[in-house]
Amino acid sequence: MEFFVDTADIKEIKRINDMGILDGVTTNPSLVLKSNKNFKELIKEICKVVPGPVSAEVTATKFDEMYNEGIKLSKIAKNVVVKVPLTPDGIKTCKKLSKKKIGVNVTLCFSVNQAILAAKAGAKYVSPFIGRLDDIGKNGIDLISDIKKVYSNYKNLNTKILAASIRSTKHITQAAMAGADVATVPPKLLEEMFDHPLTAKGLKIFLDDWKKTKQKIL
Ligand code: E4P
Repeated sequence: MEFFVDTADIKEIKRINDMGILDGVTTNPSLVLKSNKNFKELIKEICKVVPGPVSAEVTATKFDEMYNEGIKLSKIAKNVVVKVPLTPDGIKTCKKLSKKKIGVNVTLCFSVNQAILAAKAGAKYVSPFIGRLDDIGKNGIDLISDIKKVYSNYKNLNTKILAASIRSTKHITQAAMAGADVATVPPKLLEEMFDHPLTAKGLKIFLDDWKKTKQKIL
């Protein structure tokens, strides 16, 4: 499973990238607002730090403008993936950008049918939002499993399932078990993945015993 970090906070992105386990970054307009930075400069900076795919979202809602925004965003850096919403204009934009070999992440996916549309339009990624489905009493993980099942019926589909709106470490495990290709995870949750009380306890015992040997490795 690939890991993307779901943030526009450049400090956090650098810190997590230094761990050596980061494959890419997703941003959205709400995360850009939080960062308080110029969008295009921010994306440029992120793309310099992380060589993997960096999603940057268009904000127009009509095809012509969406497409032009997508072209502009794609010119910021080679690793920009243009994010478009799952609307008729978004899907049309996805098709046209994909034909030009520009990677597209179709976002705000909440159903299998929507995921089928994204795949038909040649999306590089489709982003089902797990947490937001859970919020309304549905099961977000079931959507990941269902999309996986449908996509695997058609071997010619190359769209990757990018589990988004992840709210807990349990979501990460479940998304991996359901076969998501990528999980985009908020920085805090990526760190929580390290936690297990037996790891902390075991390490303490090993280090205490090592001290008693009075030896040094270096
Ligand atoms: C990622 O591409 C999405 O924008 C993000 O995961 C949304 O998460 P949220 O539902 O926690 O805002």
